[in-house]
Amino acid sequence: MSIAKSYLRYRLKAKTRHGVHSPFVYDIVEKVVQAKGARNDAAIENLRKALKKDNRLLEINDLGAGSRNGAGSSRTVSQIARSSATAPAQAAFLQRLATHLKCRNILELGTNLGLTTAYLASASHAERVLSIEGDEALAKMAIENLAKLNVSAEVRCGNFDDLLEPSLRDLKNPDLVYVDGNHRKEPTLRYFDIIAQYARENTLVVLGDIHWSSEMEEAWEVVRNLESVTLTVDMFYLGLVFFRKGRAREHFTLKHP
Ligand SMILES: C[S@@+](CC[C@H](N)C(=O)[O-])C[C@H]1O[C@@H](n2cnc3c(N)ncnc32)[C@H](O)[C@@H]1O
Repeated sequence: MSIAKSYLRYRLKAKTRHGVHSPFVYDIVEKVVQAKGARNDAAIENLRKALKKDNRLLEINDLGAGSRNGAGSSRTVSQIARSSATAPAQAAFLQRLATHLKCRNILELGTNLGLTTAYLASASHAERVLSIEGDEALAKMAIENLAKLNVSAEVRCGNFDDLLEPSLRDLKNPDLVYVDGNHRKEPTLRYFDIIAQYARENTLVVLGDIHWSSEMEEAWEVVRNLESVTLTVDMFYLGLVFFRKGRAREHFTLKHP
């Protein structure tokens, strides 16, 4: 299915808080989706603006699914900032969600330029934020960007295949894991399986770009039906996955911020 058709189908299903009967999800709609802004957002967005004008050329070694428009390995910082980073409204939403759920230990797969890392690391309760990036030039730029923003987060450079499990082990109790790289079915499900082994009842896994391709839609469908998954929220660009126990399984589709 094309992304336009997926979006139309999503919009027809998406609810506002009026259609939501779960108090937990109702709270998320009211206090997180409908809220505005985020800590540090002015500084992060000023940096994004500057990166969008940055014509330095980077040779990218993308270990994942690459970009939808098939951009090659040589890309300007400007192109990367425009096409790869999570949109400001979604990144701010993720920070508000991390704050609402009092997330302390956060892991991001796919640092890119570090913009969403900065949002997550600025969440009120964030104590330890790790982010994994496979491309060396991007990891280096992300470290510089986080330093410019005076934000504390650790960028680890390497393949998710090698660094995911040790990073989860280091975090001990991951409160939030944002999977935002290598958007293909098999790796997404493989990463999810590893994350689920380290997840506790309160862990939130966020999958990026769940409607980006038919492979990602299939991966989302598999995740929604896993025994360990008790609550999912489809927000089109992001899919929220919870493992909360003792409740009937529920799947929501909500209007994104
Ligand atoms: C969509 S971008 C991440 C955007 C970032 N989270 C943000 O919102 O600003 C995906 C990133 O994941 C990295 N990546 C993809 N597959 C990877 C893999 N197997 N191991 C490590 N990094 C990978 C890419 O180099 C790219 O920078």
